[in-house]
Amino acid sequence: MKALIIGSGGREHALAWKVRKSPHVSWVGCAPGNGGTTSVAENVELDFRDPENVARYAVDNDIALTVIGPEAPLAEGVVDAFSGHDNLVFGPTQDAARLESSKRFAKEVMMSAGVPTSGYRSFSNPDEAMRYVQRQQRPVVVKANGLAAGKGVFVCEGRDEAEHAVRRIMVDRAYGAAGDEVVIEDCLRGTEASILAVCDGSDHIILAPSRDHKRIGEGDTGPNTGGMGAIAPNPAVDDELVQYCSEHIIAPVLREMSADGTPYRGVLYAGLMLTDDGPKVLEFNVRYGDPEIQAVVPLLKVDLVDLMLLAINGKLGEFNDQVGLNSHEWRRISSDAHAACVVLASSGYPGSYNKGKEITDVPEEREDLVVFHAGTKHADGKLVTSGGRVLNVTATGASMKHALETAYAAADGIQFDGKTFRRDIGGYAGYPPRGD
Ligand code: GLY
Repeated sequence: MKALIIGSGGREHALAWKVRKSPHVSWVGCAPGNGGTTSVAENVELDFRDPENVARYAVDNDIALTVIGPEAPLAEGVVDAFSGHDNLVFGPTQDAARLESSKRFAKEVMMSAGVPTSGYRSFSNPDEAMRYVQRQQRPVVVKANGLAAGKGVFVCEGRDEAEHAVRRIMVDRAYGAAGDEVVIEDCLRGTEASILAVCDGSDHIILAPSRDHKRIGEGDTGPNTGGMGAIAPNPAVDDELVQYCSEHIIAPVLREMSADGTPYRGVLYAGLMLTDDGPKVLEFNVRYGDPEIQAVVPLLKVDLVDLMLLAINGKLGEFNDQVGLNSHEWRRISSDAHAACVVLASSGYPGSYNKGKEITDVPEEREDLVVFHAGTKHADGKLVTSGGRVLNVTATGASMKHALETAYAAADGIQFDGKTFRRDIGGYAGYPPRGD
């Protein structure tokens, strides 16, 4: 079969890499792809922001499976555009994708489903939002309700910061219509974890639990980014916790969405804060995490295409019953290795940065190392930078220390002007020792 991956980041390169290994798949396209996806897929020029365009391409080119990487096309209804066609698409419908495209909707679902999360209020009137934050005694998180490309979330320690956030989102309209409403949450403290579950509308399978490192600076300092590195499995998440997430977060949300007439098919990504009072959901995303999936797929022992087809066809539950697999038993579908992904970014990111810098010394893929590309392209016979996050150096090893050592050794060897990365992914602060 032919498979098409929509998107251009490290996530899409990792998905194309894994899908290419499926015995069912004879051709992989990536639209638009990047400078690295060409090693496993054909880059396809396609305006993926237009849902009808994507569906038409799939129909005209006999694409059996289309996998949607980023959230924006899902929120635009790309999955709905496939309705009435035999070509399959992996991802939630536009209505179901509101779990990510509307923070208020996600909170309402969590409240009705009894999912543990922080208290919140939502406002469409900036004056009311301002009065609310002025009354708060504790830190709050102010979020633009709609999609803001990973921005639009402000962790506010004091009232001045909270007022600034409300002003920026609702008055300055820094994120456009995404700021028509704000959600203001109680701030949670703890350790973050990402749980990705492949869902078929009623059943699910959880993938290896992972951890993202969102801030640009070591020690979780500086502004948020799209993610500066990931590890899987996440040592802070034990098997009991995964089972808890399966039973108290993923399953209730699937039941709630079905009861509301919007069954959820695709990846449900729960961003968690592991607090002293137990895990609480910070947010839902309706797609594979980036960079989390770069660390998760190298561990996956089963065919991801099989999993996605089972999900699309509503047969994950049947499969689980047949093989005696419980939804939370991720270890049975993953190797017992550890994986680390270190993101190499352009200096200046997440602010402004230069592009067009030549990239050299990217190591060849090995059994324990693969470099997934993000902001790269080929120009004049050279590989050059074309984005903020440039490369995702992903290594596996028998221990997390081993995986991190391999990833950092490769990261050190890769050259491009302005290369910047965190040295503390997976808790490896100071590796190798500063000053080396
Ligand atoms: N790793 C954060 C995200 O995918 O949104």
